[in-house]
Amino acid sequence: MSSGLTDPFVRPPAKPRPPAQLRGRAGAQSEPAIQARGLTKRYGQVLALDALDLTVQAGEVYGFLGPNGAGKTTTIRLLLGLHRPTSGSSTLFGVDSWRQPVRAHRRVAYVAGESSLWPSLTGAETLEFLGRMHGEVDRAHREELVRRFDLDTRKRIRALSKGNRQKVQLVAALATRADLLLLDEPTAGLDPLMEIAFREAVTEARGRGQSVFLSSHILSEVEAVCDRIGILRAGRLIDEGSLSDMRHLGAHTVEATFEGEPPAIQPLPGVSSVRVGSNALRFEVDGPVGPLIAALGEHQLVSLSSRAPSLEEIFLHHYAPDGGAPGERDSGGV
Ligand SMILES: Nc1ncnc2c1ncn2[C@@H]1O[C@H](COP(=O)(O)OP(=O)(O)OP(=O)(O)O)[C@@H](O)[C@H]1O
Ligand SMILES: [Mg+2]
Repeated sequence: MSSGLTDPFVRPPAKPRPPAQLRGRAGAQSEPAIQARGLTKRYGQVLALDALDLTVQAGEVYGFLGPNGAGKTTTIRLLLGLHRPTSGSSTLFGVDSWRQPVRAHRRVAYVAGESSLWPSLTGAETLEFLGRMHGEVDRAHREELVRRFDLDTRKRIRALSKGNRQKVQLVAALATRADLLLLDEPTAGLDPLMEIAFREAVTEARGRGQSVFLSSHILSEVEAVCDRIGILRAGRLIDEGSLSDMRHLGAHTVEATFEGEPPAIQPLPGVSSVRVGSNALRFEVDGPVGPLIAALGEHQLVSLSSRAPSLEEIFLHHYAPDGGAPGERDSGGV
């Protein structure tokens, strides 16, 4: 076998199950893939997660964004029943994460932020072992993933680089075709080509009706693959919505270039400006851009451009050093 995949374990014949797509649809009709109610975790003095209310529907790809220490890993550990909540609760497909972890895990595959694989097993043995733990693996798909992620499965885990160890975890999770994939910063350490392979795999999983919970601080990744995003800061979910819901939170950026020295533009609420170069102004606009465009129209313009904020800009807006949430920021004049 070109990938070096071997079958070191004797495995009982797989029980017939309906295709993942059908199971995903069935889930969509019944229980949400994830439901958290007032989920809270305190580690001593540290309030790592503060009353999280969250629902991810079956079949949804949810991006969980937050800076270092925001509580992303804590959330995933609580969802998996690895840590006990200080208060509140969570369910996976209606099964309580803490009270019934074995049942809750049945439909879930997990990629840990910090991998803790067995150093002396080869990649192939690890994939086989993780597959057996889950109980159901699509071997042909796994071969395909090994090829796409360019993984040498003959090497022992201890001899693999960080990125390649991450790939072993990812392939193992994706090959299970679990109804829910819980992925904690799964692309940490992957190079840009592998990042593309990851995005394709998530898009395919979504097409099959699988649910995905993806924690990340890579905004472009979330923007590319997620239906909905939540923003976590210091243990609190400070915003949530579809990408189009979130766009309005950021300012519009308008750039105007003039024939000569930029003119003084009358102060407008929600508009701030900065000079860029010798004859251009850049405006950040919170709210409608019409009044600014009208004011600029009174001057000799060479060019004018306007664009919607990227997720990066939305993110910066939320994580600005002054902690300004939308609507709380000063709306200075020009
Ligand atoms: N086992 C633990 N004991 C004590 N404090 C912890 C423990 N796990 C997490 N914390 C604290 O809880 C907070 C949230 O940590 P968490 O690992 O969930 O953040 P994160 O969003 O995953 O960050 P990163 O992006 O760095 O992975 C941090 O202040 C962290 O120091
Ligand atoms: Mg983490």
